[in-house]
Amino acid sequence: MIYLDYAATSWPKPKEVMRAMSDFMEYSGGNPGRSGHRLSISAARIVFNAREAVANLFHVTDPLRVIFTANVTHALNLALYGLLKPGDHVVTSSIEHNSVMRPLRALEKQGIKLTVVQCKMEGCLDLDLWRAAVTPGTRLVVVTHASNVMGTVLPVKEIAAIAHQAGALILVDSAQTAGVIPIDQPDMGIDLLAFTGHKGLYGPTGTGGLVIGEGVDTSQLQPVVRGGTGSRSEFEEQPDMLPDKYESGTANSVGIAGLGAGVRWIQSIGVESIRAREVELNELLLSGLKNIPGITVYGPSDPEKRTAVVSCRVAGQNVSEVGLRMDDEFGILCRVGLHCAPSAHKTIGTFPEGTIRLAPGIFTSPEDIRTVIAAFEKAAAPHG
Ligand SMILES: Cc1ncc(COP(=O)(O)O)c(C=O)c1O
Repeated sequence: MIYLDYAATSWPKPKEVMRAMSDFMEYSGGNPGRSGHRLSISAARIVFNAREAVANLFHVTDPLRVIFTANVTHALNLALYGLLKPGDHVVTSSIEHNSVMRPLRALEKQGIKLTVVQCKMEGCLDLDLWRAAVTPGTRLVVVTHASNVMGTVLPVKEIAAIAHQAGALILVDSAQTAGVIPIDQPDMGIDLLAFTGHKGLYGPTGTGGLVIGEGVDTSQLQPVVRGGTGSRSEFEEQPDMLPDKYESGTANSVGIAGLGAGVRWIQSIGVESIRAREVELNELLLSGLKNIPGITVYGPSDPEKRTAVVSCRVAGQNVSEVGLRMDDEFGILCRVGLHCAPSAHKTIGTFPEGTIRLAPGIFTSPEDIRTVIAAFEKAAAPHG
């Protein structure tokens, strides 16, 4: 079996992640931050270690500004609903995932003004169009760091500079890049960084978070869920301190234990080396697929300008049938369809059918990629 669906979730997870989770269940199963006994303290320490690991990964000095959520979708919703008010102007791109688009469209109905900047066919953003869209009244810009359909990496540092010139904040969806491309949040000027734990960070599902940059005034960011935090229990109002203000209810501590182990694991390899390896695999995959007659590959052709997420189509064949055949006949597991990003498919002209998405990861070998190319050669052949 060749697993090529890392863009949906990474699999397998490193044994260090699985061990951290089973150790947590066996030895530290208390409720973090709630009680004073040893199991609660041990759980709280593990959660804090994970917070430190995430802060360190993104070069953030204060781990308390790492807010854990259930996934990147929840983190994006916290940022959007916590920050925006009717009348606020928001700018986003045309290649966003529905985790950004759906809350923004709902908020539009409640009175925010939304500008969607059209990207080019390969998903690249025209910075002049972006500059024209961001005006002095803009409150927030929201962008994905890389497209989950074409892999196109957006120039976040430049986008942040344009936002800041206009007095706006920037929220980045790093679902496809955290752990895969180095992210230095302060250097890139990212005010709010939403991440998910189960893809490039190799943690379990049910983990993610929002990293609030030092420059963000948290009095402007309202919690979207309020309740028990284990702190300031004498008050019926939500505490203001971080991370408690945004973390009500018992945390997914076993998941966070796994997330912490995943982050430490990728750091032991080095995100730079992970990136270099993925560029290599991607080069192999892109050049192999492009040489097959009848296959159209989407996104930038330069592997340096994209992540290892490759969307393609086979002429005259339905994407679902190709996906099914890949699984049944060749043991290749990929994803087909719209990948929760209809606007991205409208941008590249593949709506409504979508594409076949091949997304290798850390455990994929060059030999696997050669097998995949051979399978596509067979699938695309006239009587294949
Ligand atoms: C760019 C992008 N944003 C958001 C998401 C949503 O991720 P999650 O389901 O972990 O919240 C995904 C993953 O599917 C993604 O690729």
